[in-house]
Amino acid sequence: MRGPAIQVRGLEKSYKTLRVLRGVDFEVARGSIFALLGSNGAGKTTVVKILSTLLKADAGTASVNGFDITTQASDVRESFSLTGQFAAVDEILSGRENLVLVAELRCLEDPGAIADDLLERFSLTEAAARRVSTYSGGMRRRLDIAMSLVGTPPVIFLDEPTTGLDPEARIEVWHTVRQLAGQGTTVLLTTQHLDEAEQLADRIAILHEGRIIVDGTLAELKRLLPPAEVEYVEKQPTLEEVFLAVVGADGDIRTTATPARTSEER
Ligand SMILES: Nc1ncnc2c1ncn2[C@@H]1O[C@H](COP(=O)(O)OP(=O)(O)OP(=O)(O)O)[C@@H](O)[C@H]1O
Ligand SMILES: [Mg+2]
Repeated sequence: MRGPAIQVRGLEKSYKTLRVLRGVDFEVARGSIFALLGSNGAGKTTVVKILSTLLKADAGTASVNGFDITTQASDVRESFSLTGQFAAVDEILSGRENLVLVAELRCLEDPGAIADDLLERFSLTEAAARRVSTYSGGMRRRLDIAMSLVGTPPVIFLDEPTTGLDPEARIEVWHTVRQLAGQGTTVLLTTQHLDEAEQLADRIAILHEGRIIVDGTLAELKRLLPPAEVEYVEKQPTLEEVFLAVVGADGDIRTTATPARTSEER
């Protein structure tokens, strides 16, 4: 398949009088990670819903994996998988049962083997037989992403994959997303976290007031601002440094240690 994995041209969408998308354009290269940044209510989920054929645009065109979202909707649906903003795992089932269920729904051969492979890849083997209701937020999110990968779709949409996760779980999810792209999957993710886009994305687009106001690589985006300036920041000693200065490396109390002066005292 040639051409970009996702192509969006002049997309418009209103909810009654609220004009959410006012002509959105972007392209996502195959095998790359593209981050759609925007504040609450910018329209990120709306874009994802339109691309995943869950919602109809008012105007504009878009294609996923080379298929048009309006005229070839069923080919589009076979080309992607969606991890929505809120985890879609079944709490009562175990992690493995969730994965087997999706593989069965997708009519794949040997659902058990597919589930075991994904559990292993997402470091969930030990928790495989446990009910999802006992999983931590990070484990749940990992399982959610693993469920999206059943059947290895070429394109994956991740709507705010790390919102609500603690720093450690976020890093786990980032690692997973990088692995996916490394294996050739195209990833479109939405996020409100600038650091997430910075960490992950090959290309970043900012959605603001219905349009993409900037689109480029991180280096290109950084060039939009004046070059970095060197600033002098006074560093206050940490308690550890105070402790070491007072006690001394050999453990003897030094009575001669003088505390560092603050800028007001100078
Ligand atoms: N079904 C709907 N009916 C009416 N308004 C809607 C509907 N869905 C979304 N909106 C409005 O459209 C705007 C864009 O919503 P959307 O969910 O796409 O934003 P978002 O960028 O994903 O925000 P968040 O970061 O909070 O997830 C918001 O103002 C929202 O209230
Ligand atoms: Mg959203």
